[in-house]
Amino acid sequence: MKFSQLSETLAPSEILKIGNRVKQALAGGESLYNYTIGDFDPKIFPIPGVLEEAIIGAYREHFTNYPLAEGNFDLRKSIREYISIFQDLHYDESEILVASGGRPLIFALFFSLCDPGDKVIFPVPSWNNNYYTHFVKGTAVVVDTREENRFMPTAEEIAPHLPGATLLTLCSPQNPAGTLFRKEELWQICELVVQENARRGADEKKLYVLYDQLYSQLIYGQGTHYNPVEIHSGMRPYTITVDAVSKSFAATGVRLGWCLGPGTVIEKMKVLLTLVGAWAPMPEQKGLAAFLGQPGEVALFLNRFRLSLHLRLEQLYQGIEHLKEEGYPVDAIAPEGAVFLSVKIDLMGQKSTTGVRIESAENLTAFLLREARLAVVPFYAFGSEGNPCWFRLSVGTSKLDEIDRMMDSLRQALDLFPAAMLEHSNEAYGN
Ligand SMILES: Cc1ncc(COP(=O)(O)O)c(C=O)c1O
Repeated sequence: MKFSQLSETLAPSEILKIGNRVKQALAGGESLYNYTIGDFDPKIFPIPGVLEEAIIGAYREHFTNYPLAEGNFDLRKSIREYISIFQDLHYDESEILVASGGRPLIFALFFSLCDPGDKVIFPVPSWNNNYYTHFVKGTAVVVDTREENRFMPTAEEIAPHLPGATLLTLCSPQNPAGTLFRKEELWQICELVVQENARRGADEKKLYVLYDQLYSQLIYGQGTHYNPVEIHSGMRPYTITVDAVSKSFAATGVRLGWCLGPGTVIEKMKVLLTLVGAWAPMPEQKGLAAFLGQPGEVALFLNRFRLSLHLRLEQLYQGIEHLKEEGYPVDAIAPEGAVFLSVKIDLMGQKSTTGVRIESAENLTAFLLREARLAVVPFYAFGSEGNPCWFRLSVGTSKLDEIDRMMDSLRQALDLFPAAMLEHSNEAYGN
């Protein structure tokens, strides 16, 4: 091995591989409906104007030196107020740690808690848990989620794995599924964690929950976002919540995240991150402190932002529902949160009129790209092997007036599989 065992064995990201294929097609002059990107087009979804102005203002006032290792006090104070007003979460400044986005915080948490061989439990499909587990040489315990549970893990599925585990990672709203924990579902998981910790001796490592709520402000319809600490009084010592401006404020490139947790864990993470130097830049910290200090502006931005994302997700969802009603072999889960729609294109094992047989999720992804000019991320890129017909469609770069054309293009591609349509209608009518 020429390099460290860690980097020699780090598998390339499936999501990036697919993204690169799409980039190549675009560079070759092909026109595509690109729903792969877990990012925002700033021309469609700019960051809040007040935040932008405040960041520029901070540069003009020469806030360009090192920030505090744990995040500037004024920023942690405004995060404290923001989470109290908008999320009913109550943490003081010493329980808040700021870094350059959600990723360094997740990284620091894994390294602060896990030793080689420690059990890390995570559901699939999910985002990047396999990589962080690999970093710490942990033992990955993968929980396969199911379509009927909207691809959210259940207490029943998690329970057998908890003895001896160090970390359980949960995410809601979920990337890739775009779905949320219901209160009762999350409570049941919390109760298991509390019971497991009660069984452990004083000198044993506790079981912690990494609660990734990067999409916490992007909730649609009648849905509600819940945090373990808010709904289960026993969860506070074991929950580390990670959040950021990246998704909720369309600010992926601003690089600002925070986590909330017990002071003891936060302190360990701080020491680690200080050496990595993953501070959020000083002017961004000043800008965000000013923006979060204006709850009226925050609410105004969020209401508009949610509305435009929901419009797109709903239009996509209705488009798929229409195709389904017409007998096409497709399905979707009603959008609940984040910027994603889960869509099923059930062509596995089918042969097209042009002689193409779909035998794997890779075949299906390539077929959609070639025939429908539709670029999407298959669930296998999120570690899920058992759902080869499911895809994530992301609306962060989608134009409203394009969705109908994309649906027509998908319909034409599906028309190449008349036998699949017949099978699907027979199933629908119980034949
Ligand atoms: C669920 C989830 N958590 C964390 C992150 C990382 O966020 P950040 O860009 O703030 O590092 C992402 C980014 O796509 C995500 O989808």
